[in-house]
Amino acid sequence: MAIQVEKDGRLFNLQTADSTYQMYADEYGVLLHTYYGKKIDGENLEELIFRADVGFSGNPPESVADRTYSLDCLPQELPSDGVGDYRESCISLLHDDGSMAADFRFEGYELIPCSYKVEGMPSLYDNEEERGETLIITMKESASQVVVRLFYSVFEKENVITRAIRVENQGESEVVLMKCLSCCLDYQFGEYDLITFVGRHTVERSPERNRVRRTKLEIGSMRGTSSHQYNPSMIVCTPDATEDFGDCYGLCLVYSSNFTACAQKDQRGQTRVLMGINPNKFSFRLRKGEFFDAPQVILSYSDAGLTKLSHQYHKILRGHMCRGKYQHAKRPVLLNNWEATYFDFNKEKLISLGEQAAELGIEMLVLDDGWFGKRDDDNSGLGDWFANEKKLGSSLEELGNRIHDLGMKFGLWFEPEMISEDSDLYRAHPDWALRIPGREPNRARNQLVLDMSRDDVREYLFERISDILGHAPIDYVKWDVNRSLSDIYSHKYAGNQNGEVYHRFILGVYDLLERLLEKFPDILLEGCSGGGGRFDAAMLYYSPQIWCSDNTDAVNRLDIQYGTSFFYPISSVGAHVSAVPNHQTGRTTPFRTRGHVALSGSFGYELDLNKISEDEKEMVKEQIAEFHRYYSLTHEGTYYRLTPPGERFCAWEFVDEEKNHALQTLVMTSAEGNPLPVHTIVKGLSPDKYYCCSVNGQVHSGRTWMGAGLTLRMVPKEYESVLIEWNVVEER
Ligand code: GLA
Repeated sequence: MAIQVEKDGRLFNLQTADSTYQMYADEYGVLLHTYYGKKIDGENLEELIFRADVGFSGNPPESVADRTYSLDCLPQELPSDGVGDYRESCISLLHDDGSMAADFRFEGYELIPCSYKVEGMPSLYDNEEERGETLIITMKESASQVVVRLFYSVFEKENVITRAIRVENQGESEVVLMKCLSCCLDYQFGEYDLITFVGRHTVERSPERNRVRRTKLEIGSMRGTSSHQYNPSMIVCTPDATEDFGDCYGLCLVYSSNFTACAQKDQRGQTRVLMGINPNKFSFRLRKGEFFDAPQVILSYSDAGLTKLSHQYHKILRGHMCRGKYQHAKRPVLLNNWEATYFDFNKEKLISLGEQAAELGIEMLVLDDGWFGKRDDDNSGLGDWFANEKKLGSSLEELGNRIHDLGMKFGLWFEPEMISEDSDLYRAHPDWALRIPGREPNRARNQLVLDMSRDDVREYLFERISDILGHAPIDYVKWDVNRSLSDIYSHKYAGNQNGEVYHRFILGVYDLLERLLEKFPDILLEGCSGGGGRFDAAMLYYSPQIWCSDNTDAVNRLDIQYGTSFFYPISSVGAHVSAVPNHQTGRTTPFRTRGHVALSGSFGYELDLNKISEDEKEMVKEQIAEFHRYYSLTHEGTYYRLTPPGERFCAWEFVDEEKNHALQTLVMTSAEGNPLPVHTIVKGLSPDKYYCCSVNGQVHSGRTWMGAGLTLRMVPKEYESVLIEWNVVEER
């Protein structure tokens, strides 16, 4: 059993293959967090807690005689607000008498032999290979009728523990939830670094590593999306942690809207780490019998550095979060017309692109923004999800059929959550947009946001999108979101429910996605938000691939894809070969390099194939052959980061499960005169097998390759790349 319960049902050990997470409900019913780390035998570790009379840390009513007992110092699972723990809390309540206190004590527990599901939101699900086990702990508020259920699922083999919270008002009077974070980790001892993934539009997910001290480290989003700026994932690790060494704890929030994530030491040097919905502009009213579900956090622990942690996340997200036909089915190589044509296209242009693409082996044409309503630039038309047949010169059905006749699939872009003021939809339903009466709204990309919390808005979108997907032969949908939310006001939840709108908005998005995927289960969905502005675990539940960044520059992509790889599987990373000079950076890189970088992701093209040279066309064919040859490695293999950003070259590697085949990609990021050698390390091989290396034909044992590495005979020029294979051979 992965979940062990002892001490009259008060001591809980959650055991995974290599880790243990322990909680203990003490004599006052405070749920202590006594351990998380390397696997242990599960004895009660309450004894590790050092108790002392700490000045200005008060004592709860039960322990007035014992001044060494203070909520302000104890490691807890559900630190609550207003009753003596002065650190950052998980939960905050406003009662109808105006008081703001929350004091949750242990009531009981329940075990279920499968993983739990968070209502209305994505969460990890059980598959045939592994089923989670769940512990549900009930905590009751000491002076009201508010009950919290803490959900923990253990995926033993994967070294993953999830946690979520349900808050239920069982009392007569209304309670307002002012804050409800999903997870708290308290570390009594040790020094830690916090790694977060930060950036901006076209520069997403750069790792930033800081030492946790008493000054709070905090990231978050208030954009209504998980955001380009801060990803809802972070790693707590020992300061000596590297790719292959050290204790690393991952926290990954399964949520696509406002979040907070922080780490801070308290007055005694204990570290508290929290993650969940951002409490800023959040409040949720709970009337009698109502409950609130906070999103899941996926926790994982690695005793052997960051690489192992990434492997655990890749496996769990690929196997227990991504769903549907394309979770395992081979993804088609696509050509997206965005950077090829932008808004300037018609049927002839698209078919000519399609013909050229089909000839080169590309398997799908994706028609991006501009095919609907009045939409020749980004100032109008959003919301009018009717094909603009005049512009296209045909119906979508006819166009789709023509593309299918070329032997290709056909994909279409949507941005359902948005509305242009210059649209028929806005003229008919101005109240469907989020905007505060009496104020001019903030516009971004000259568009407003639809109120996705409203059933009628979702019904309209469901009907429009279903109509299009039901009539035209569409195999793929790119689901975009091109602005951050602001001016939050919903006509449906006006007044004292305004604090619910951000959350209800994202629940509405999830609901619409779920309904559409239920109706069109064979559609391959690609998530997008101006590239990687909504690249999070929750979106992977709907879209097994997400456009990683609007930045298609192969060299910039090295860093973006590197940062993305800490949590998210490589198969989820949308990556395309685009034209040079690159449209975002102006840089020129070799065609071959662009292909090699894009191969480490869900692969495609985003350029005008009619404008490339014959040599480049040949390279497209070669790249597609490489895509097929390496598909199982890049989409299901084990991934290794080999170099940190900022080196002379960037290298990474994939190894198949049997360890018979490895592929390394190496890209020179700078050039120098009289160059020093390029020596690269090799990881993940089996020590006792023999491998032949494709670039020098040498055969060595895996032990030798991993110990000694490889020196390239030639130093590649700036921005050139090489693919290096290791194939197992019978013997030396
Ligand atoms: C976003 C996407 C792009 C493209 C445009 C269309 O920026 O990330 O790939 O679809 O929108 O407007």
